[in-house]
Amino acid sequence: MTPKLFTPFSIKGVTLRNRIAVSPMCQYMAVNGLPTDWHPAHYESRARGGPGLVTVEATAVSPEGRITPGCLGLWSDEHAAALRPIVQGIKAAGAVPGIQIGHAGRKASANLPWEGDDHIPADDPRAWETIAPSPLAYGGGLSRVPTEMTKADIARVREDFVATAKRARDTGFEFLLLHFAHGYLAQNFLSPWSNQRSDEYGGSAENRARFMIETLEAVRAVWPDHLPLAARLGVIEFDQSDEQTLAESIALGKRFKELGLDFLDVSMSFSTPTAKIPWGPGQLRKIAQRVLAETGLPGSTSWNINSPALAEEMLQEGSVDMVMIGRPMLANPHWAFAAARELGLADPVSLLPSPYAHWLSRYHFA
Ligand SMILES: Cc1cc2nc3c(=O)[nH]c(=O)nc-3n(C[C@H](O)[C@H](O)[C@H](O)COP(=O)(O)O)c2cc1C
Repeated sequence: MTPKLFTPFSIKGVTLRNRIAVSPMCQYMAVNGLPTDWHPAHYESRARGGPGLVTVEATAVSPEGRITPGCLGLWSDEHAAALRPIVQGIKAAGAVPGIQIGHAGRKASANLPWEGDDHIPADDPRAWETIAPSPLAYGGGLSRVPTEMTKADIARVREDFVATAKRARDTGFEFLLLHFAHGYLAQNFLSPWSNQRSDEYGGSAENRARFMIETLEAVRAVWPDHLPLAARLGVIEFDQSDEQTLAESIALGKRFKELGLDFLDVSMSFSTPTAKIPWGPGQLRKIAQRVLAETGLPGSTSWNINSPALAEEMLQEGSVDMVMIGRPMLANPHWAFAAARELGLADPVSLLPSPYAHWLSRYHFA
């Protein structure tokens, strides 16, 4: 029998050849938000390894929304034109091209991970002003205090999301993932760790969710009906208030569904460095199962889905509809092919392009 991991997955007008997605992963190799030679090589080689979906990394809706100076952006038509060959390369390899769009909020203006992963000092010419719902720093190495956003700032960033979604659409992306997680701007609004506003964008759960809701509504209006609109939501912080956070996240997911969200990726909040995250294989498995069952949204999760067998189990038990695979895809761009062999798919080479498939078929390669 075909492993569930390798059954097609249809969502809206898009059919993925299997249920494996390359999770969005910043490459930190862009210049002024523009891709360099690194990016097409990186994304095309992941696509050629056989996944159903390749999600281009967190791509900033404005220059100030980048996490680091090496992050991609899509705030101009020049950026769109530069991403087009990547879209074409992913499609030519048989995968669906997706992109994550976001704004880094109070975690913006950081050094590259391998150069410190901390804020660039404010007086360094490479640094820029950071903005967030409240003037509260994340902490640890990300200690810069952001400027509190005005209502005009909030409206501008929402429109930046809309303009970026339009460009993603016109560039040929077929799966749009809103970055509503990981302690970046949208999550900054949702989390009481980063939002202490007293206007309609802070306080109650409804008010803290307002930025996400308004952004989702505005993006849905420009993102084509036949293409899936997805969000990666940090549903849990692993702090003292997990039950409440989860209940709020589930209520929010239901609201997202009513507003036309098609797919939810269940992730973590990363709103405080004091969180006690239970790292381990399939660490969000049960949480994703609960959130997706209660919201009624199709979805996925990531985080240490560290073997094809675990991915298959999660799909079989109905925890998720698709798995997002991150670091294993860096270790082996042909992870999907390797998983197909391991799980006994009848014809694993069918996932690969001919220049590989021919030589790796059972006639040539045991
Ligand atoms: C190098 C690197 C860059 C990442 N960049 C992003 C990103 O751009 N957007 C995002 O939502 N998550 C990002 N993540 C998180 C991954 O998408 C994924 O959720 C996480 O690595 C857990 O999956 P894994 O255990 O299979 O690696 C990144 C992770 C890594 C390792």
